[in-house]
Amino acid sequence: MKKPTGSPNRSSRIRFLSLLDSLLSFEKDSAFLPPFSFGGWVFFLAGMVPALIVGWIIFPMVLYSSQPQPMNFNHALHLDPESVDGIEGDTENERCLYCHEFRDDGTFVGIPLLAKCTECHDDPEMPLGETDKEADFLNNYVAAEKEIPWLSYSRQPDCVYFSHIAHVTMGEQDCRVCHGNHAETEKIPAYRANRLTGYPINIWGKNISGYKTDTWERMKMDDCAECHTRNGQEENNECFVCHK
Ligand code: HEC
Ligand code: HEC
Ligand code: HEC
Ligand code: HEC
Ligand code: HEC
Repeated sequence: MKKPTGSPNRSSRIRFLSLLDSLLSFEKDSAFLPPFSFGGWVFFLAGMVPALIVGWIIFPMVLYSSQPQPMNFNHALHLDPESVDGIEGDTENERCLYCHEFRDDGTFVGIPLLAKCTECHDDPEMPLGETDKEADFLNNYVAAEKEIPWLSYSRQPDCVYFSHIAHVTMGEQDCRVCHGNHAETEKIPAYRANRLTGYPINIWGKNISGYKTDTWERMKMDDCAECHTRNGQEENNECFVCHK
């Protein structure tokens, strides 16, 4: 047999070039179409990009229903001593507890009832400020003696036991750690609930990838446990502590 002319590597170079050729061409009628060929990338991206848009943008939009709150409540105004006087306390938490009180048995009132508002807004004929919003509030609720049907942004499933006094008083946690800057807002956000579970978006977090930058962005089981571990409270990570 005659020795092939040219370099001794020639045949392997030809094999390499033909492999390269088959990698780069996608029109070629070849059963071997690796995922990293040029054509493969086109198809991959053509599938991947819409899937990402559907998964990260459209799905979350469809998954959550949005509902307005019955009326606005301006936390910033009520906590500003220049506008509203009488909400006192040395620490921020104490000012919050003026409305978000603990009952004598230690249970948490949560969102205050109308009776708390009428400690100041006591006469529907005598507004404290001059806004239409206050006039609407006085007519629709104070004069009508009707409770405001607030929707709670943080309500957990019924199977979860959570006590505010344990966290705020014993655990010395600030409201902000779990609730963010809600109390600095002038306008409350729309209420958004997960259509599948019925629970508010604040539990799941606004970011569907599960990535969070602030402690209050999500309040799932892992988020509760993560803070317990951070505070040396691992004993509170037994199932029966939170699911009684
Ligand atoms: C004058 C009474 C009043 C005071 C004082 C007050 N709040 Fe509120 N708070 C309300 C009312 C009314 C709501 C229901 C409307 C809403 O969601 O904002 C509410 C709702 C909230 C919610 C939303 C709870 C949920 O899950 O739906 C948070 C969080 C909150 N307040 C935190 C605070 C913090 C923190 C402070 C202190 C810095 C504070 N509030 C002081 C009246 C008050
Ligand atoms: C400590 C007294 C006090 C309490 C308690 C209080 N308010 Fe007020 N509120 C005021 C005063 C004073 C103003 C007027 C401030 C201004 O316009 O400068 C006001 C204003 C308002 C306004 C008009 C705000 C705007 O943005 O135009 C609304 C609505 C209102 N309060 C609702 C409530 C509700 C609901 C509660 C109960 C959860 C409540 N207030 C509890 C003192 C109070
Ligand atoms: C350790 C985290 C944590 C801290 C600290 C905390 N909260 Fe909450 N808060 C929660 C959770 C969780 C819920 C939902 C509880 C449930 O569904 O039983 C909630 C619910 C609420 C609600 C709604 C209650 C309802 O009836 O739906 C209000 C109002 C509220 N918190 C205000 C406050 C205020 C004001 C403070 C500070 C004094 C505070 N929270 C501190 C985690 C926290
Ligand atoms: C920001 C930190 C933090 C977060 C978030 C947190 N916890 Fe806690 N938790 C604590 C601390 C600190 C204690 C210990 C309180 C004490 O000193 O007894 C505690 C104690 C408890 C206890 C035992 C006290 C009791 O009431 O029986 C339960 C139950 C509990 N947490 C449930 C939860 C649940 C459910 C969540 C999430 C919805 C949660 N915690 C989120 C800090 C946190
Ligand atoms: C620190 C508090 C805490 C502990 C400890 C804990 N859970 Fe949870 N669990 C939660 C909270 C908050 C939720 C609701 C939010 C969520 O789905 O993550 C939940 C939800 C669940 C659910 C889903 C229920 C539903 O209706 O969606 C199951 C199942 C569950 N937990 C089982 C367990 C088991 C099993 C353990 C022990 C290994 C455990 N949990 C320990 C706080 C806790």
